[in-house]
Amino acid sequence: MDIIKEIIQRAQQQRQRIVLPEGTEPRTIQAADRAIENGTADVILLGKREEILGLANSLNLKNILKANIINPETSEQHEMFAEKLVELRKKKGMTIEEARKLINNPLYFGCMMIKLGFADGQLAGARDATANVLRPALQIIKTEPGITCVSGGMLLITNAKEYGEEGLLVVGDVAVTPVPDAGQLAQIAICTARTAQAVAGIQDPRVAMLSFSTKGSASHEVVNKVIEATRKAHEMAPELKLDGELQADAAIVPEVAQLKAPGSEVAGKANVLIVPCLEVGNISYKLVQRLGHAKAIGPILQGIARPVNDLSRGCSVDDVYTMIAITADQAIHLKEQEAK
Ligand code: ACO
Repeated sequence: MDIIKEIIQRAQQQRQRIVLPEGTEPRTIQAADRAIENGTADVILLGKREEILGLANSLNLKNILKANIINPETSEQHEMFAEKLVELRKKKGMTIEEARKLINNPLYFGCMMIKLGFADGQLAGARDATANVLRPALQIIKTEPGITCVSGGMLLITNAKEYGEEGLLVVGDVAVTPVPDAGQLAQIAICTARTAQAVAGIQDPRVAMLSFSTKGSASHEVVNKVIEATRKAHEMAPELKLDGELQADAAIVPEVAQLKAPGSEVAGKANVLIVPCLEVGNISYKLVQRLGHAKAIGPILQGIARPVNDLSRGCSVDDVYTMIAITADQAIHLKEQEAK
């Protein structure tokens, strides 16, 4: 079965409450309608009720009537959320006036819903820029235990079945931290491996820490960073199959791995690729997507205590629907982890 179908099925089995702050955005509302119809999530749409229902009516969407629609500005929770936000951000000098203003912003309102247990995850970005989607999540929801660096994993489904997990590769970070230090890069590796397991269904992640050098073939301070990140990642997760520094060909091509990194349990068969910085990740996944006709799913934000995901502004209704299911799936997984 394909992995998107599997993700949707898992979401349908334990329905999660997913906030969509861009309630008046046409692709978002169409995907929300489908999610309600298919039982993929309990959808919470933020925005003015009459605007949302007017748009739904003009698009002939009947299921939106079953959505929970909340206008942050007039919500009875507005003042309580503002007060809680002041509590959370008092060390940063936030005043109640600033908090009231921020709570009017659906991206902040949604994150407060999650923080206070009224919702399980959030998805936005069809209209808002990445940084605006990320900031409230980083400020309010914060990171999961043991992690300080949020990052974004990308599922790349390629037709090159000889590489990765039958053509599936998970790459990180493609979305958040522009220049990670060695410790952050180690965390990105561990979180991307978790995404590979939890979302992509890869049972046995094999993580390659990528560079332009393989096992000392080149020396430079940026290579040293990857070597140090590899060491730290081993320390943090000794059970994880992870190796570096590796060039991309040594990571995924068995014949090249034989020559450049013989004996490695990862080289030649990596299914999780960790890039040294955001530029490399973002550029390379887009090139693989366009030139290699790969399907790119994500970014799937990882390391946040509750799932908040970001859409590309060029997304389709299908993309939004898939990301609703992924956000729900992550929420289920995070809750299961906590219960252990
Ligand atoms: N992990 C965890 N927390 C973080 C991270 C991180 N990677 N980065 C910032 N934070 C926290 C900070 O500690 C801070 O918390 P605090 O206010 O409680 O102290 C809060 O987030 C805000 O941090 P700032 O550095 O002040 O926020 P800023 O808005 O400058 O930057 C952001 C954060 C938005 C993540 C920024 O790094 C960014 O814009 N990254 C790139 C996003 C992007 O454009 N990606 C590419 C497009 S996505 C795509 O194409 C798939």
